[in-house]
Amino acid sequence: MTPKVNMIEIISAEDIRVRVAALGRELDAVYGQEPVVAVCVLKGAFIFFADLVRAMSIEPEIDFLRLASYGSETSSSGNVFLSKDLEIDIEGKNVLIVEDIVDTGRSMEYLVRLMERRGAKSVRICALIDKVERRQREVRVDFVGFPLPKGFVVGYGLDYAERYRGLPAVYELKP
Ligand code: IMP
Ligand code: MG
Repeated sequence: MTPKVNMIEIISAEDIRVRVAALGRELDAVYGQEPVVAVCVLKGAFIFFADLVRAMSIEPEIDFLRLASYGSETSSSGNVFLSKDLEIDIEGKNVLIVEDIVDTGRSMEYLVRLMERRGAKSVRICALIDKVERRQREVRVDFVGFPLPKGFVVGYGLDYAERYRGLPAVYELKP
């Protein structure tokens, strides 16, 4: 895929490669030899997730879920719910949630609570992008790829109305 004229590259494929490698080492340092379940939040995190699990030297169990929310497509203004659940039982396990973007924090607040209710031993979040200034819920992102103050971004898994997920870098979408 190639970018369009209304896009500005803000995180290059090389920046992502370097940062993901460093995140892999951060994750190794935290988990050591502890078993971990890496949970990919579909769809946006799928490319980041694939790169991240290959950057870790530990071998996580992997699983997938999908969140949906009533309301707008570009932020989760409404209530969050699962539209696809995990298949593995996470009780007593270390759960690493891998998300594309934490924006208002509503999605991650919901998911962390759910994992805790299911008896996870620990729950941590790794997000490619942290839009910290847009936060409405208190959510701790344990591992951040890139902080981003503002703007709507696409590429490397991230979409706008299901488009642009296949772009190799992250682009800000101009109106
Ligand atoms: P939150 O519940 O407001 O934190 O919602 C985060 C979700 O909104 C992310 O998982 C994305 O699916 C979506 N989102 C927020 N900002 C962007 C963006 O800039 N590009 C693409 N998706 C976004
Ligand atoms: Mg998402």
